[in-house]
Amino acid sequence: MDESNQQLDLIIRSGHVVTETGVHRTDIGVRDGKIAKLEPVLPDQAARTIDALGQLVFPGFIDAHTHMGIPIMNTHSADDFASGSIAAAFGGVTTIVDFTVQEQGQSLRESIEVRVGKANGNCHVDYALHVNITNQPEVRVGEIPELISEGFRNFKVFSTYRQAGMMVTWDQFRQVLGAVDQNGGLIFLHAEDNDIVEGRTETNIKAGRFGAKYHGHSRPPEAEATAIKRASEIARDLDAELYIVHLSSRHGLKTALGARERGTRLHLETCPQYLLLIDDVLRKENGHNWITTPPLRAQEDVDALWEALAEGLIDVVATDHCPFTVRQKSVGSEAFHLTPNGLPGVETLLPLLYTYGVNKQRIALQQLVNLLAKNPARLCGLYPRKGEIRIGADADFAIWNPNETYSIRSENLHGTADWSPYEGMAIDGKLEYTILRGQVLVKGEEFLGKNVFGTLLLSEERN
Ligand code: URP
Ligand code: ZN
Ligand code: ZN
Repeated sequence: MDESNQQLDLIIRSGHVVTETGVHRTDIGVRDGKIAKLEPVLPDQAARTIDALGQLVFPGFIDAHTHMGIPIMNTHSADDFASGSIAAAFGGVTTIVDFTVQEQGQSLRESIEVRVGKANGNCHVDYALHVNITNQPEVRVGEIPELISEGFRNFKVFSTYRQAGMMVTWDQFRQVLGAVDQNGGLIFLHAEDNDIVEGRTETNIKAGRFGAKYHGHSRPPEAEATAIKRASEIARDLDAELYIVHLSSRHGLKTALGARERGTRLHLETCPQYLLLIDDVLRKENGHNWITTPPLRAQEDVDALWEALAEGLIDVVATDHCPFTVRQKSVGSEAFHLTPNGLPGVETLLPLLYTYGVNKQRIALQQLVNLLAKNPARLCGLYPRKGEIRIGADADFAIWNPNETYSIRSENLHGTADWSPYEGMAIDGKLEYTILRGQVLVKGEEFLGKNVFGTLLLSEERN
C-alpha cells in the first residue's frame, strides 16, 4: 500500500507551527514516531488527535548541556537521568546532551559504557553524550578516531578544575583538538584560565574571604577571556572548529568575536543564568545557592549577551543543568570553595527564553527555535533527525499556550532541587504538551511517559 495512505498515529491539528520560514497554521501527521505529513488541513483520521488551535507548536527542544548525577565536591548533582529527564519533559525538552565522566585510569570507551548504563532505561527523553576527556595524566587521543566513527563525535574538555583532575593542559588541548577536528568531531570547551582561578582562589582563602561573592571574584571575566583567547589561537593554528560552552561575560564575548573576525571557527553557547541573573544574589544570606561556574556576572555582561543573541552571534542557549538541593549547597554557606557548583535549569529553559527573549522582543520566535533546537541539533550531529519540524524528522514537539501566565515556584518544578534560582519570575505562556517520537510525555500537569524511555542518539556528520 502507498505509505501516504496508511493510517496516521497522531494528528496535531490547527497549531501555529514554528519553522525556519515562519509561523504557519499547519496540521502535523505522525506515523511510526516520525513526522509524516505537514499540510494546512489534513483530511486524514488518526488514532489520536490533539487540538492545538491558538497554540505554538515547536520542535522538541534540545538542551545541549546537562549534568545528571555527576560527582562534584564530594556529592552528586541532585538529578539523576530519571528525575532530570522528567524535569526536561516538563520544560518541552525532548533531547538532552549530557556528559561522560572519565574517572582516573578509565578509558574513554569505559566512561561511555558507564554513563550509558546509567541513562539507559532511566532517561525519559532522548539523550546524546559529550565524551569528557580528562588528564589521566595522559589524554587518550588514540581512542578518538574509532569513537567518532561509531557516532561519538562530541568531546568535552575543561581548561580548569585542575585539582578535581578534570583539566587538560594547553598542550593536551592542542593534541585533542587536532585529533577530534581531523576526524570530524567537535570539541566543547569549558574556558577559564586555571592559573587566574587558582591564584585568586588561594588569595581569597588566605585572606579569610569565604563569602559567596568571592567565588565570583576568584573566577573573573578575565579568566574566561584569557582561556578563550588561548584556545582560539590554537584552533586557528589548526584550522579547527571549536565550541565554547556557557559563555558568561562581555569580556569573554568580545574576545570570542574578535577571534572569529580573525578567522577562528568558533561556536558560542550561553545559558539562561547569564542572561537573567546578576551577581547581586551572591550577597544574599543564602547567596551560596547561586554559586555556579562560571559565576554570575554584572548587568553589563547580561546586556552584552542579549545584544549578541539578537544579532545572531551566539549559536546555542543551553542550561548547564547541574542542580543541588539547599542542603547540599549549605555545605558551602561558610566557604565558597567548598560549595557544589551548579544550578538547575532544564525545566525553565523554554519558559524563560520565551518570556524574556521572545515576548520582550529581544529575539524572534524563529531565533528561539534556532537557539534551542536547530543549532544544537546541527552542532551535536543530530540534525535533521532532531531540531526542526520537517517531514522525516522525529515527531518531537513542545506545544506552548501563549495565552496563559504563571510564576515560577520551585514546588511546582519536577527536578530534585528544592529551590529555583528563578523563584517568583513571571512567565508568559504555559507548556501544554511534550511529545517524544509521537508519544505524549507530558499533558498539562501530568507525566504520561512512565514507560517511555529515551534512546541514546549517535551523532551523524554535522550538516
Ligand atoms: O558550576 C557548574 N556549572 N557546574 C557544572 C560543571 C561545569 O563546569 O559546567
Ligand atoms: Zn563548565
Ligand atoms: Zn557544564
